[in-house]
Amino acid sequence: MMQLNPSQDPEVIRMLLELCIETGADEPIGDKPINRFKQLADIQKVELTPKETVVAEVTPPPNESVGNDKAVDIATRQAENCHTLAQLKTKMAAYPYCALREVARNLVFSDGEPGAHVMLVGEAPGAEEDEQGKPFVGSSGQLLDRMFAEIGLSRNHQDPTQAIYITNVIPWRPPGNRNPSKIEIAMMSPFVKRHVEIIKPKILVAVGNFSCAVFLSKSGVTRLRGKWFEWREIPLLPLFHPAYLLRGPGRKADAWHDMLMIQRKLRDLA
Ligand code: URA
Repeated sequence: MMQLNPSQDPEVIRMLLELCIETGADEPIGDKPINRFKQLADIQKVELTPKETVVAEVTPPPNESVGNDKAVDIATRQAENCHTLAQLKTKMAAYPYCALREVARNLVFSDGEPGAHVMLVGEAPGAEEDEQGKPFVGSSGQLLDRMFAEIGLSRNHQDPTQAIYITNVIPWRPPGNRNPSKIEIAMMSPFVKRHVEIIKPKILVAVGNFSCAVFLSKSGVTRLRGKWFEWREIPLLPLFHPAYLLRGPGRKADAWHDMLMIQRKLRDLA
């Protein structure tokens, strides 16, 4: 019988594919594999002459001695030093300690009108968001757009009174759309909080459990929704995640009630 080499053995190929799917590598993003560790090493050392090397201005890879607490401290300091959206985006893109950046295609920063009175903070990008580099563009984003259109708001409006601005707690897609871990949320929280401080919305909408956890230190959107909270003096409303509404339309009436709360609050604040 012909001997197969291991890379041709269908059983080995099946096991490798299963391993990829289990670890969240469930989508091809190019025809050839890319060794990102080699890429990073290459851009960090720019050879000038055989003897002379300079370290290029790129973020160093995570230093192994930096523990999670230190990584969160660094995120806090870096976020505090950002005063514009451009600075924030640059710092986030260069932040090396959240491993999600290594497996995502794009940093998903924001969409919509930065002057909008209403700012939404979702959880984390999915496959379509990762591909386009924009938050909430997949099926749950389309439902979110329809919900806000019902109260006359849109990410495409430029008039701040009719516009929305959207971002997420986590800017990189977690592999296989798994939930972000506690430490990933802790590392990226200073950035999303600074994002809100820079935008200074009149109303903050925390979309889903992780967003509620970041801004209210409480999760359980089912219990929290339907009530106004405050985050640094900004009125905050927890909202069901549209992905949850798509799974079970039973809570659509509650979601509609919450949309009307946003509409009323905007009128009160006008
Ligand atoms: N879900 C989110 O929370 N954010 C997105 O951008 C997409 C889906």
